[in-house]
Amino acid sequence: MTGSEWWRTAVIYQIYPRSFADANGDGMGDLTGITNRLPALRALGIDAIWLSPFYTSPQNDAGYDVADYCDVDPLFGTLDDFDTLQHTAHELGIRVIVDLVPNHSSSEHPWFKAALAAAEGSEERAHYIFRDGQGEHGDLPPNNWDSVFGGNAWTRVTNPDGTPGQWYLHLFDTTQPDFDWDNEWVKAQFRDVLRFWLDRGADGFRVDVAHGMIKATGLPDYTPPVAGGSMGGASTEGSGIITEWPETAPYWAQNGVHEIYRDWRLILDEYPGDRILAAEAWVDPLSHVAEWVRPDEMHQAFNFAYLETAWAGPALRRVIDDSLAAFGAVGAPSTWVLSNHDVVRHASRLALNHENLQGHGIGPTTPDLPDSVIGLHRARAASALMLALPGSSYLYQGEELGLPEVIHLPDSAREDPTWFRTNGERYGRDGCRVPLPWEAAAPSYGFGPSAESWLPQPDEWAGLARDAQVGVAGSTLELYTLALGLRREHALGLGSVEWLDGHADEIVALRNGAVTVVANTGAASVPLPAGELLLASGPLPGNTLPGDTTVWLRA
Ligand code: NOJ
Repeated sequence: MTGSEWWRTAVIYQIYPRSFADANGDGMGDLTGITNRLPALRALGIDAIWLSPFYTSPQNDAGYDVADYCDVDPLFGTLDDFDTLQHTAHELGIRVIVDLVPNHSSSEHPWFKAALAAAEGSEERAHYIFRDGQGEHGDLPPNNWDSVFGGNAWTRVTNPDGTPGQWYLHLFDTTQPDFDWDNEWVKAQFRDVLRFWLDRGADGFRVDVAHGMIKATGLPDYTPPVAGGSMGGASTEGSGIITEWPETAPYWAQNGVHEIYRDWRLILDEYPGDRILAAEAWVDPLSHVAEWVRPDEMHQAFNFAYLETAWAGPALRRVIDDSLAAFGAVGAPSTWVLSNHDVVRHASRLALNHENLQGHGIGPTTPDLPDSVIGLHRARAASALMLALPGSSYLYQGEELGLPEVIHLPDSAREDPTWFRTNGERYGRDGCRVPLPWEAAAPSYGFGPSAESWLPQPDEWAGLARDAQVGVAGSTLELYTLALGLRREHALGLGSVEWLDGHADEIVALRNGAVTVVANTGAASVPLPAGELLLASGPLPGNTLPGDTTVWLRA
């Protein structure tokens, strides 16, 4: 593996292990399934993979509830399987980033079990956030915080002698108790976890809830301006998706988090080969996100402001400018992202006519469901614009196939804790997590050797299967492959954005080095700008650039 600061320009592909590829036919994706399919990612042209959690876990939040940070859940395989995956990826020139979930563990983690078994005020309890309840008998929660997934953020425990005891904090599910990151023992354990994966050769970490690990002193009450939950952060205007719960919340974006990342950075810097930290920090505005990637902290932070931006010229120009300015001001690359395992897939989201609260999802009873044809056009155009931008881009598995959100999942199949904790009021995130289609004619569309798949795949996915798109002119897969090839050839990741004047508001026109990019976010066709065509996200009838279409031209 050569090249320094590879992460400044990398295209990083998110693998959601349970839904990528299933080698043993149990309907659940696994590490061997990933290894077997890596050549397809090499052919796509990505630089790195980020693996969502595959650690030992009761799977109450699809693995974001970790019961052993240094082992693989039998559902996904073994540590040997991880080593094979990583070795194979490295042989193919693909770096491997693992997911670190430090805000909370599973309630099945031995550390939490020890805390439950120990006395109030013990060192074991101090690893988590236990407090006495309010009220005469302590039967009211310590404060008024809500869980991101809905419902109360506190659960009362029963003492070993059967009496009702203290309460513990869980910003997410009841089975995800929050650590106390002011505790030195907790800090020491996670240093060891970092070293465990770095010693095995991991190229870095995506850090879950990187804005939430420190809570305000005294855990003051807080009433969010909008009821409900999200991963945190505030909304950006005019988008198809918004987040709520601004960072003034006493559990988001507290200053103390930065000390943790400075400490971790020193550890990463001891290792050869440009290992990285990437922050999942849902904070606003972008200048604030940039604090996570100051020179002595993390390397990258997800650009959720970009993901939240509507498919509209002025908003896109503004967020691109803001991103380059904010990250540039601290010497970090901007990142770009349109989809992940927590949001409605952009092939559906960009056709929503109403705002969709982050994490709420869409389902059969959602009013005004998105038009799939418009959604796919916009998604292809939006991806073509994103992949032309300087910096590093994140792709979410399946977007290169143009997969839409799966809306018509049976209620009985849903697994997202959001669905259960809100009694079905929010559909949650299962619709973006349906196992991938690889082969049109195979059972489970080639997801695995059997017909099993942990969430049912819709019939239409036969036509979207990878083997139905490879080598097919105009397919979404070929569009992504072409874009990634041109991006590399023209070193767009290292380039810059020069806005081109003289276009209507809904046209996003820019030059990045030798490539001119023109995206028509409007409905009406405009004349196709002159120049040698390198890439088009859709048909260009009669030398026009139709709405919801992006082209790359030789500048
Ligand atoms: C963010 C992760 O992306 C999401 O999937 C998870 O549910 C929460 N953090 C809690 O770990």
